Amino acid sequence: MLSSKFLADQDMCCGNGCMKCPYEPKYIFGNRSLQKKWANTEKKMYNRENLEGKKMSKLKMPMIGLGTWLIPNEDVGKIVEDCLNLGYKHIDTAEVYQNEEGIGRAIASSSTKRENIFITTKMWPGMYNQEEPFQTFDGAIKACEKSLKLLQVDEIDLYLIHNPFAKENRIELWEAMVELKKQGKVLNIGVSNYNVKHIEEIENAKLEMPAANQIEIHPWHIIPETLDNYMQKNQILPIAYSTLAPIPNWREGSRWNGKPEDMKSGSMPCQNIADNYNVSVPQLFLKWAIQLGYPVLPKSVKYDRLKENLCLDHFHISDKDLDIISRIAIKDQKCLAWSGDFDPLDVD
Ligand SMILES: NC(=O)c1ccc[n+]([C@@H]2O[C@H](COP(=O)([O-])OP(=O)(O)OC[C@H]3O[C@@H](n4cnc5c(N)ncnc54)[C@H](OP(=O)(O)O)[C@@H]3O)[C@@H](O)[C@H]2O)c1
Repeated sequence: MLSSKFLADQDMCCGNGCMKCPYEPKYIFGNRSLQKKWANTEKKMYNRENLEGKKMSKLKMPMIGLGTWLIPNEDVGKIVEDCLNLGYKHIDTAEVYQNEEGIGRAIASSSTKRENIFITTKMWPGMYNQEEPFQTFDGAIKACEKSLKLLQVDEIDLYLIHNPFAKENRIELWEAMVELKKQGKVLNIGVSNYNVKHIEEIENAKLEMPAANQIEIHPWHIIPETLDNYMQKNQILPIAYSTLAPIPNWREGSRWNGKPEDMKSGSMPCQNIADNYNVSVPQLFLKWAIQLGYPVLPKSVKYDRLKENLCLDHFHISDKDLDIISRIAIKDQKCLAWSGDFDPLDVD
């Protein structure tokens, strides 16, 4: 029998019936039970409940999505088209990424049906500590309508407030989110970069609670325990972003890289563990997050990496290795996605 690595290197399915195998499933065709498994798993949507047997969240969404921050509008269409053909079912964008128009065009012209694509976008509430007025209730409604138009869709699957920066307007903005859901313009509402204190404001105002909180999650920045407990208690799904931040080439050449120089030039963490599973370190980190129950949003502009990041179902990380990976946490937790010296979870 040919090894799965050999088959994967040849751009062929490894025969393990991986849920979203990006390789041409040649090997699967002769095997009826694998064919059946393939057909069943293809349609599956996960949430933390069916991953861990815990009642974590009511929100069901694909566990792997394409991240699109730093992909320019003129390039994003081809990448989204490739991803949909590969089997990605979730695209993550934001008003502030300025690429919703290109994503919308790709979705509109795709042969993948709209109901098989989960779209997340985010409303920008205004920048912390800058002389920019914060978003308002009416402005938030208009921002959502603009996103709907650019994305060429009738509703957004998950609409998030991008961060908690708009201190005085946070409740007003959340009321707008609730209103957008009531109007059917968005199907689920959530937040991003919110800490317990920020979500408690919503709870104290007796408003509908967020379905999800998108946060930076990788082994150097794991969810603070108090936040994790609070989200579990309130069935708020944590969605992981920047999960590949510990790899040395993360956001290489971009000014949006908050890593100090020593982290940029360091060796690939956890390479020995990845080798044991015959996978790459990015695959290992993505699977680590998924096994902890977090949907992930790997971003890449390279076709081979888009395939690699989707191919995560043929291996399972042991509890012992999950623990070892979680323990590579550096002494002080490091938020890298924003600037390196400030963590949006910590804002007032
Ligand atoms: N809510 C928020 O505040 C927030 C903040 C940050 C991010 N996000 C979302 O989360 C998504 C992901 O986060 P991110 O973009 O910060 O980082 P990421 O997906 O963790 O990492 C992306 C970086 O890793 C590289 N890469 C991707 N796959 C690779 C592979 N298989 N092997 C080697 N290198 C690989 C990419 O380079 P290439 O592109 O050159 O392949 C890029 O430099 C974003 O795109 C965005 O949608 C949300």
